[in-house]
Amino acid sequence: MSNAELSALRAEVVPRGVPSTAPVYIAKARNAIITDVDGREYIDFACGIGVMNVGHCHPKVVQTVKAQAELYSHTCFGVFGYESYVRLAQRLNELTPGDFPKRTFFMNSGAEAVENAVKIARYATGRKSIIAFDDAFHGRTHMTMSLTSQVNPYKIGFGPFAPEVYRVPYAYCYRCPLGLAHPGCACECADLLELAFAKVVNPEEVAAVIAEPVQGEGGFIVPPPEYMGKIKKICETHGILLIADEIQTGMGRTGAWFAMEHWGVAADIVTTAKALGAGFPISGITGRKEIMDSVHPGGVGTTYGGNPTACRAGLAVFGIIESEGLIERANLIGQRIKERFLALQERYPVIGDVRCLGAMVAMELVEDRKSKKPAGNFANALRLKLYENGVVNVGAGTYHNVLRILVPLTIEDATLARGLDILEETMSQVSAGGAAD
Ligand SMILES: Cc1ncc(COP(=O)(O)O)c(C=O)c1O
Repeated sequence: MSNAELSALRAEVVPRGVPSTAPVYIAKARNAIITDVDGREYIDFACGIGVMNVGHCHPKVVQTVKAQAELYSHTCFGVFGYESYVRLAQRLNELTPGDFPKRTFFMNSGAEAVENAVKIARYATGRKSIIAFDDAFHGRTHMTMSLTSQVNPYKIGFGPFAPEVYRVPYAYCYRCPLGLAHPGCACECADLLELAFAKVVNPEEVAAVIAEPVQGEGGFIVPPPEYMGKIKKICETHGILLIADEIQTGMGRTGAWFAMEHWGVAADIVTTAKALGAGFPISGITGRKEIMDSVHPGGVGTTYGGNPTACRAGLAVFGIIESEGLIERANLIGQRIKERFLALQERYPVIGDVRCLGAMVAMELVEDRKSKKPAGNFANALRLKLYENGVVNVGAGTYHNVLRILVPLTIEDATLARGLDILEETMSQVSAGGAAD
């Protein structure tokens, strides 16, 4: 079927609530190139939202998945165990930040990982409240939707939300909640957490603070280097656990195995998903041994969690990141994208801010740099035109005014350069077309 035929059929059989950015359907993909059913090629600047860090159909992933399919596809780990699950848990225990004994178990999606991190934090502390941040995204299930900040489209009409979730501002320097500027501010916004303990919730009832080390869906908001350390310290003072949601930032994306490494912080629980399975659904919950082992046998688990194929893919992903030096490459790629974005920012006032940590790079689009009014329409026009011009991309930001770039860390230099040339040309087309808000 063609793109047009599939779009027509989709409209008849899939509800409109399922997001659809562009009317294109994949036929096949290799590394950073996706070919659609009409035979057109696209450069992948989205990675299926941060999943394909090792590129599409990496030969080592394909080979291991094929081999696993020949052996067995499912037992339920709790019913009949298998080595790949145990070995993948071992890898995460070794590589997530923190020089202390850890335990890991697996679920299927990012949201499920966060759900379980919250369950365990409550169980281990005997406390009920959870604190999340403004502009956070943690998923779309009941609890994770409640932790998620952005109202449209994630929360409109879906209440009531889970109780005992409280929210504090994040270190969004471009739109500082205190109207200050880093470094002169001494990162005062972290103290807003302490303030919440006077104004919002009793800290002795707080089980955990959950934070993305760089906010993903919120618009690649990179906090100042000392921010997470301050948050962790406040948590420790009150016996509160810190959950690092590394679902989008993990697996080499930011130029470290896990983004918390940049901040020198070891969270008590870490959630992973997305790039962990190279497209095979799997998520991980890793935490301090004593916290994870506090839960009674059978208290956590699921039918498919850590299925054998996804675990084998996960082991391949760790191997590929190591053998191909993808952590260093993430920094190089990020630097190249950032340089191009900064050059564009000099020419286009609509680019209010350029943010980056490793290969997580974004531009925030504004109507003018003084008011910083979000240019959501411009961002939308830019993203649609990029598709038309052959670059797959995703937006972000509470006001839908951020273009975020998530390329495979294996992308060839020439493909990256071509994608950035197209982006530059598209910027000029959309600016000339007067698509501003
Ligand atoms: C930081 C973060 N947490 C949780 C999730 C939810 O993951 P999933 O869509 O696999 O449920 C996402 C997805 O974008 C995410 O970026």
